[in-house]
Amino acid sequence: MRIPSDIVDKIYQTIDVVEVIREYVHLQKSGKDFKACCPFHNERTPSFYVSPAKGIYKCFGCGKGGDSVNFIMEIEGVSYGEALKQLAEKYKIALPEEAYQKPTDTEMQEQNEKDSLLIALNYAKTFFHEQLLYTDDGKAIGLSYFKERGFNEKTIQKFDLGYSSAEWDAFLRNATRKGYQAEILEKAGLVIQKEGKQEYYDRFRERVIFPIHNVSGRVIAFGGRTLKKDKSIAKYINSPETPIYNKSKILYGLFQSKKAILNADECLLVEGYADVVSLHQAGIENVVASSGTSLTHEQVRLIRRFTNKITMLYDGDKAGLNAALRGLDIILEEGLSVNIVWLPENEDPDSYVQKNGTNAMLAYIKENAQDFIKFKTNFLLKDTQNDPFKRGEAIREVVSSIIKIPDVINRNIFYKECSVLFGIEESVLISEGNKLLLKDQKKTADKNIVDELFTENKDALLDKKAVEYNALYYQEQENIRLLLSYANYPIAEDKVFGHYLLDEIQEINFETPIFQEILNIFKENLSQGNLIDSSYFLRQDSDVIKNTVIDLISEKYEISNRWEEEDVVTRKKDERLNHVAYTHIMRLKWRVVQKMMEDNKKVLQRSDNEEDIEKALQIHVILKNTEKEIAEVLGNVIR
Ligand code: CTP
Ligand code: MN
Repeated sequence: MRIPSDIVDKIYQTIDVVEVIREYVHLQKSGKDFKACCPFHNERTPSFYVSPAKGIYKCFGCGKGGDSVNFIMEIEGVSYGEALKQLAEKYKIALPEEAYQKPTDTEMQEQNEKDSLLIALNYAKTFFHEQLLYTDDGKAIGLSYFKERGFNEKTIQKFDLGYSSAEWDAFLRNATRKGYQAEILEKAGLVIQKEGKQEYYDRFRERVIFPIHNVSGRVIAFGGRTLKKDKSIAKYINSPETPIYNKSKILYGLFQSKKAILNADECLLVEGYADVVSLHQAGIENVVASSGTSLTHEQVRLIRRFTNKITMLYDGDKAGLNAALRGLDIILEEGLSVNIVWLPENEDPDSYVQKNGTNAMLAYIKENAQDFIKFKTNFLLKDTQNDPFKRGEAIREVVSSIIKIPDVINRNIFYKECSVLFGIEESVLISEGNKLLLKDQKKTADKNIVDELFTENKDALLDKKAVEYNALYYQEQENIRLLLSYANYPIAEDKVFGHYLLDEIQEINFETPIFQEILNIFKENLSQGNLIDSSYFLRQDSDVIKNTVIDLISEKYEISNRWEEEDVVTRKKDERLNHVAYTHIMRLKWRVVQKMMEDNKKVLQRSDNEEDIEKALQIHVILKNTEKEIAEVLGNVIR
């Protein structure tokens, strides 16, 4: 999959980092930038920043950062080429034929495994979909089943629904004919290897197919429902876990629903594929399914990217009840608010909405939504006839959920509600809650100690801190940062800032290897007549360099920098840049001289013959004078 460089350039010129990232997280405006809770690590207060001006994102919590292409690579776990392809598709930039052809064998090997799995799964999706729409069996069996369930054509398209025939190898034969290797199909969960043999057969046979998309719309797995009533046959067969499908991190329907969730600022949570599909068709589009597995923390965090409010719609049966109870605490722990809607006996959201229609469904949700306290209390006290022992148990049960809420203020609101409901003083409930909290905290405290003892990079971290506080390091860093940020900024006629700065510091060797490396890259390019800037580095392979550059040009350093303070009203922007650069260069030179004096002192201490001592003393005098000169200039400039 080779993409010609002019098209690569076009992609880079077209992509908008905010548009790209907005597909995955709910970005909020923050000054000239955007912020959000980081999709790469777990957090509740946003430290993930997107800068449209710089075309980059950066998380100050976990350190991840890069441009739009890096973002796609990171969040989708795909290669550079695949990320470019996805972006090209998003922006309708035509790629040459080769980009869409199945990769050659060597290309296949070069590509990372995830890419090839995605390609195979996408092929399978199209295959099953076409089977449903265009084959006799597909139409007679699969399509008529969906029609009977009330799914219309638009819905079938929206969810890419499909059909797999009863044959043992219909998909396998077809895919191998198209050049897909059986091993890859096996890794993708599409075919199963016969025991001890190099032979395979289709995983999905004689079933209607629900493709499972990740948040950006790539198919990563399938669920297949049997059409038989036979209880001995599994109703659903699902893809196994694969390198790209981790079922605890995926929610069915999120891709199709995320916009509506954002708009409604609420996410309906249901259990089944059919529930999501039916609700969508009824125009209720802010809905996802946990697909039969019990809800996980990761899934709740996925939802949290789009809203803080979850409404669970659960079947009125025993299994549904237990699932709801487990899910509830997880949602509370993640700091979201949760309501629960209990559906009438023997109904699920799909059957209810098909029977009663959209308005009835919406009205039912509105009338029956209970917060978790009412929900827990109602069912815990249902058959107890005021048995005081059971009552005590119920209260502790409810309190155990309240303490899951991370925010103290919210927690207190629910203590109050609980107190009214049970007629017990708030203080009693709070002290009961605190007892439970203490127990929990002891557990986490133990865990923290273990974490600390076994953090591998602790020394490295401390080293980094020490280096960071080193003044010379700081001045080097500031010079590199200015260079990266303003290389092409015009400062005078025929002169841009980069030329000026590089000229000024050309004889200085930076102490910090990474800064020297960056400087060398600037110099090498300049010797060929190219003045590069930060964007050049974002497209390089070395992660170390790339991450350093992103760090340097990100907001954090601008805040720490006195740029704005030095913006004396009367000073024009060009002058200001000159001024800032000049002082930085002088400060750097001053630090360099300091360092040379220290080194020279060591030489002096080690010298045992007169000649060496004399030489070192001479050097000392020269350095002292230089130091004085610089200090004078700096004194004048800085005031
Ligand atoms: N499920 C599963 N394997 C099963 C049964 C269920 O993976 N053997 C998952 C599916 O994701 C299913 C969900 O659990 O969508 C809910 O199960 P259920 O309520 O039994 O199925 P429905 O989605 O209601 O399916 P249908 O309406 O077609 O009966
Ligand atoms: Mn159902």
